[in-house]
Formats: sequence, structure tokens, C-alpha cells
Amino acid sequence: MTPRIPLSAPDITEAEIGAVTAVLRTPHLSLGPELAAFEQALAAYHAVPHAVAVSSGTAGLHLALLTLGIGEGDEVIVPSFAFVAVANAVRHVCATPVFVEIDPVTLNLSPGAVENAITPRTRAILVVHTFGVPAEMDVLTLIARRHHLALIEDACEAIGAQFGDPPHARRVGCFGDIAVFGFYPNKQITTGEGGAVLTRDPMHAARMRSLRNQGREPDAGWLDHSEIGYNYRLSDLACALGRVQLARISEILTLRHAAAERYQALLCDIVGLELPPLALPRRTISWFVYVVRLPEQANRDRVQAALASRGIATGRYFPPIHLQPAWRHHSGAIAALPLTESVARRTLALPFFNRIAVDQQQAVSDALAKAVRDQE
Ligand SMILES: Cc1ncc(COP(=O)(O)O)c(C=O)c1O
Repeated sequence: MTPRIPLSAPDITEAEIGAVTAVLRTPHLSLGPELAAFEQALAAYHAVPHAVAVSSGTAGLHLALLTLGIGEGDEVIVPSFAFVAVANAVRHVCATPVFVEIDPVTLNLSPGAVENAITPRTRAILVVHTFGVPAEMDVLTLIARRHHLALIEDACEAIGAQFGDPPHARRVGCFGDIAVFGFYPNKQITTGEGGAVLTRDPMHAARMRSLRNQGREPDAGWLDHSEIGYNYRLSDLACALGRVQLARISEILTLRHAAAERYQALLCDIVGLELPPLALPRRTISWFVYVVRLPEQANRDRVQAALASRGIATGRYFPPIHLQPAWRHHSGAIAALPLTESVARRTLALPFFNRIAVDQQQAVSDALAKAVRDQE
């Protein structure tokens, strides 16, 4: 049954429909002018010279790791409180993800834990801007420099977020050696499926363009391949959609911030419920999801069932990767990440999208208040 109030919903206007339809009237459905235009728009928005559009955020992570030369025998520091693609991508290049603890407030990699996890085999830090909250980029950059590690930003959940004190604040994606974005329909901006990689290095950009297109050099013939690559291309239909969404990003982020503020006002009286911070020092949040932490004694499954019975979708963002059946027995899965595990036991993502209506948020708030009360 489709929930009455979904967890997420894309925001597609006539402008997006018009842009995609226009591409359909051309012969350029892939590797056409919309691809170049979308890449240019992404690069300009981030003030980074190169953006390479790809078929998903996961593909972007894979290309980032390959391009940085990370492979067998290497360790990459990652959070476990994250979407599983983060660890999977490290595995795709035969390297080992080393899961480390998070900061209890930002839910991002804890710089202290990162430093403690560095070994002679560590090659990179893969930092995720979880739920659109920027990670501690100044400290992480210093750590990466001091230990000669690559710094990869996973900004799949955080396009438009900023880190740093004004006037030096910069958008996430500008700090690392390579940054990755994802445009699945639950994201702030979508291309249906899709992603992008940002880099300042023209060689990295060229290599990723080649790898996404079966290892074909940009000026080589269609069937000339200089290395073994992938089909990670993003169609011009998707790029046209993404370009309109990106042009609307300021409006989109404002709508999402307003929705977060409304939740804060509606939910603040539920005893024991922990709400996400609306503002944090040196950060502008790009609201991806609205995730609360249930009171310690609450049974999350029952809360979810109670909300589902009223047609309200919720999500367990995120079960720790190191406890997933696919990862539990992996050597990178260290014995315990108590903070990650305790946070992940209590988190609940509520319906959250650009056009969520006040009465929908009121319904979520009423249902959540009752479900929590019923368990006291
Ligand atoms: C932090 C993070 N990394 C990577 C991904 C993977 O992106 P995609 O689903 O586009 O492959 C996601 C997607 O949700 C994500 O949230």
C-alpha cells in the first residue's frame, strides 16, 4: 500500500518536464549537450573546475577511489553510520573499509577516532556529510595532510551545505581531493538515478570521464579503449532534469529548511524525543532528511508500525554498516562502535520533502506523540 504521507517525494515542476521533453525531441539522448551543460553548472555552483556526471553516487565513489589509485591492501577510513554504498565502493576496488566512530551531535566521522584508526596501510579518509550536515572539514583536512592521505568527500546527502565561518564558508564538495554527489529521487535535487564527481585536477577529471565510458579516451574512436572501464554514463534526459533542479536549488533548500523548522516547533514537546539541531556552529545544513532519536525506552519497530497504520512512512536511517549481514564478518568490521550502535538503534527518519504540507507534518507529529506516549 502506498503510504498517505511518503518518506520522500521528488519535486518536479513544468520546467523539469519541459527540459526533459525538449531533449526527447533531439537526437542527443546521451553524451550530448545537456551532459556538458549539467557538468558545467555543477562545477560553477561549487566553484570547482571539473564536474563529471555519472550514473549514480555509488558509481561516483567507485571512480573516485579508482582514480586516486586505491586498491588491494589499502585501508580507507569510513563511517559505519552511513548508507551501505560507502563501504561497498571501497570493496569494489578491493580495499578495506575501516569503520570508525561518529560525533554524537553532527553524526559525522569523529576526527579523534579517525586519527586513532590510521595505520601504515591507510590511504584515504572517506568522509560523509551525513543527513546534509557538514563534517568537521578543517580538522579532517589537517589530519589528511599530516598523514599524506587522500580526502574523499561523500556529499551525496549534502548538496548546498556549507562549512566554515563567513566570509570563508564554502560549499561541501570543495574541501576534499575528490567529492561525490548523488541524485536519487529522495535527494535534495534529483536526476532519477545519477551522481557526479567534482575535482580540481584535470587529469583526475579526464580519467573519470574515460572510466565512466568503458575506458575510452575523450578523443579516441568509439571502439578504442585504453583501459578497462565501466558504463557509468548519465543520459542527457537525466542531465536536463538535473540542470533544472540545480537551477532551483536555492528555492529547494529554503523549502526544506522551513519544513525542518516546522517539525522542530511541532515535536519539541514530546518527552524524551531528541530532535536534530536546526543550526550548528560554522555550518549551513542542507536538509536531506529529518531524523529524530526516539526516547531510550521506546520500541522503534512498534513506533514505526503505529505510524504505518496511519499511512505514515518512516525510515531507519541508518542501520550501522558493520552490523549488516553482508558486512558482519568482514575484516574491516571492528568489534564495537558503541556510539554508532546506540544512535542507530534510536534514529527514525520522518516524512520529509520540499512540499510537505503543514497538516501532513501535524499528522506525523500527532501520530508520533501518541506512539511514544503509548510506550511509557
Ligand atoms: C552517503 C551516501 N553515499 C552514497 C550513496 C549512493 O548513491 P546512489 O544511490 O546514487 O548510488 C548514497 C545514497 O543514498 C548516500 O546517501
